[in-house]
Amino acid sequence: MRNFLSLKDIPVRDLKKILVDAKKRKRLRKQLNNLEADKGAPLKGKLLIQMFEKSSLRTRLSFYLAIKQLGGSTLTLRPDELHLSKGGESIQDTAKILSNFGNAFMLRTDSDEKLKEFGKYLSIPIINGLSPSSHPTQILSDIFTVEEIKNKPISSLNITWIGDSNNVLNSLIAASIKFSFKLSIGCPSKYKPSKKVINYIKSNNSKISIFHDPKKAAKGADVIFSDKVISMNDKVNKLKKLKQFKKFKINKKLMSYAKKDCIFLHCLPRGKEVEENVFLSRQSKVWQQALNRVHVQKSILLYCFGKLR
Ligand code: CP
Ligand code: NVA
Repeated sequence: MRNFLSLKDIPVRDLKKILVDAKKRKRLRKQLNNLEADKGAPLKGKLLIQMFEKSSLRTRLSFYLAIKQLGGSTLTLRPDELHLSKGGESIQDTAKILSNFGNAFMLRTDSDEKLKEFGKYLSIPIINGLSPSSHPTQILSDIFTVEEIKNKPISSLNITWIGDSNNVLNSLIAASIKFSFKLSIGCPSKYKPSKKVINYIKSNNSKISIFHDPKKAAKGADVIFSDKVISMNDKVNKLKKLKQFKKFKINKKLMSYAKKDCIFLHCLPRGKEVEENVFLSRQSKVWQQALNRVHVQKSILLYCFGKLR
């Protein structure tokens, strides 16, 4: 059994194995309906318990379909219906019950500490479905999408991020270090990655550059990523922050600094960081990106269950 908490902690060999498996599974189930199981139903009889302490559409649906397509089932707990936190039940006792009733636990939370605590007490795998510090399942799936569309290893591509220094960017940074791809980050100087993240970048001999001019970050890009300026539970003066990001809005002009065949990706949901004529353009691959989460989630689950082929 293995946890999937952060890309930093997972050997790149294993991350690549997950991507290879996802590609094979996606190809093999082309003729199947959403709820039909893959041949062999490798997680038959297994229960994935999910809990979202923050909103979710894509992660919720993709894990639901992922476990179903592997032959298992899922149950989504509502945090306000548990005794945990308000009712005073401990993480330790909750984890014991989850481990006795279920086979894996996916948690979206506002506390990295909570993920760690659950990891300590669970005897079933735990998956990070987004935390303040990272969104690992999203970025692994995005690497899958980039390689699927570009038909090249991500290590040979110029990847750009224009936007806030948030959880999704942190995972992209970890991926850049693991997969060794060039990453140009464009953000206002006030919103550069935290000291801890900058130290991680520096101590890993990375191919990462940070620009405070979005045009410089976009120059020569094969892929431009973005995300909302205001993340869930971001405790900032929203209007002020949005204003500070005005120059970083992704529009046709900014896209023109990238390569001609540059694609636009966004984990969704979107805010005002991208103009509609980019978001809905042929360069935008956001719907394919979202759907690929199902395929990659499946191979992440198999990795956690020690069942990757
Ligand atoms: N991209 C993503 O994680 O979407 P949801 O918040 O809808 O799950
Ligand atoms: N950075 C965003 C990602 C949402 C999927 C957030 O944390 O709200």
